[in-house]
Amino acid sequence: MNLAEFIESRREQHLGELYEFLRIPSVSAKSEHKPDIDRASRWVADHLRSAGFKTVEIVPTGLHPLVYAESLEAPGKPTVLFYGHYDVQPAEPLELWTSPAFQPEVRNGSIYGRGTADDKGQVHIHLKALESLHQLHGKFPINIKVLIEGEEEVGSVSLWDYVQSHKEKLKADALLVSDTSMLGKGVPSITYGLRGLNYYEIELTGPARDLHSGVYGGAVPNPLIVLAELFAKLHDKNFRVAVPGFYDDIAAVPPAERKALNALPWKEKDFKHAVGAPAYHGEKGFTTVERLWIRPTLELNGIWGGYQGEGAKTVIPSKAYAKFSTRLVPNQNPQKIAKLVEKHIRKLLPDYVHCRFEVLSTGKPWVAAYKAPIFQVAQSALEKGFGKKAVFIREGGSIPFVTQMHDTFKVPCVLVGFGLPDENAHAPDEHLALENYHGGIKAIAHLYQDLAGL
Ligand code: BES
Ligand code: MN
Ligand code: MN
Repeated sequence: MNLAEFIESRREQHLGELYEFLRIPSVSAKSEHKPDIDRASRWVADHLRSAGFKTVEIVPTGLHPLVYAESLEAPGKPTVLFYGHYDVQPAEPLELWTSPAFQPEVRNGSIYGRGTADDKGQVHIHLKALESLHQLHGKFPINIKVLIEGEEEVGSVSLWDYVQSHKEKLKADALLVSDTSMLGKGVPSITYGLRGLNYYEIELTGPARDLHSGVYGGAVPNPLIVLAELFAKLHDKNFRVAVPGFYDDIAAVPPAERKALNALPWKEKDFKHAVGAPAYHGEKGFTTVERLWIRPTLELNGIWGGYQGEGAKTVIPSKAYAKFSTRLVPNQNPQKIAKLVEKHIRKLLPDYVHCRFEVLSTGKPWVAAYKAPIFQVAQSALEKGFGKKAVFIREGGSIPFVTQMHDTFKVPCVLVGFGLPDENAHAPDEHLALENYHGGIKAIAHLYQDLAGL
């Protein structure tokens, strides 16, 4: 049996095992799921062992454990580090799921459930590709290191220290990641750029305690209104971020690259279908693809305060809160941007509220030339899995580890994603197309095998 036939013959088995992984609600953001996080880390470690890795460790950290594995038994062959994450986003709002978030099922050719596309389904693609190679040949074709973390969805905070103190251990000729998307259905893609992410939270305090809005209203400033006014001022009429200096350090994208990005088989119709908004806008002077991939943003992610229960409550709240974030592009510096944002916000706020400003996480943008030979190997492996030539894209999402790895080791980072932009990552009814899951296993198995020839 050849590799493709072997993988084909294991379809049901692979899917059944993925279901097991998906049933563990490994939500990194919520402490009530700590036991599930630990269970997921053990599940990953066990399945790395059964895939053929003899060295497998669960590494405790300040928050959630990392899983590390290695097989360095192919002298003279390249060493690749595969990175992924076993943690998932919270599933709320639960009532919007067609089938329960942690009870996976197949509908209309896709696997539904939290973590299918982001990122458990994609991690599983690598586990099964590697296991298939090991079962067929009794060994791996190249040297492989594996790092699967449990904090990606909360900013990969512990990972930074781990990378810094284990440089020798993590050293590899290339990084391989499957945690991104394909440009569209039937378009295998390799991502060569990601935006960075800074995440912030602010708390505004006005009156020392909640007040009766009839007894005090009219004579006391309302922090929720101050908060609304603040966010109304953070963009100008051309939808540019109104923070002075925000755009200063952006590296110009060469005209040839802009042209290539705009010429990709990206479909406005699919984008609109996936979003479903009545109309669209964005920063003046840029196309939609450019707004998504090569321009920075400031987004309000959540805003709360005051009364939100049933019926009416006449109150002037003491406090108002917001969570917001900035997506960054090369060469914006996350620390510098955080300072500029804080400075501008403090300048805009009136003296009748007190502001607590917190930076929850920072992350650098990443872009790299796709010249190294490994990119051609990846392109042809994808062709073997999907029967189509892969395109090179940038994306708007963020993966902190990719930048850390690139900065630390200066090695090629190959991001081969199998999700689709409309598969509801981070939202209800997250799913992963079966054709991309099974095709992904084939393509990734070919990739590991073909890397032996480099
Ligand atoms: N897999 C995504 C990142 C991603 C999504 C990259 C789509 C490219 C295309 C990852 O799990 C994620 O959601 N990252 C967070 C950042 C993190 C620091 C919380 C993000 O992008 O919001
Ligand atoms: Mn992810
Ligand atoms: Mn995610």
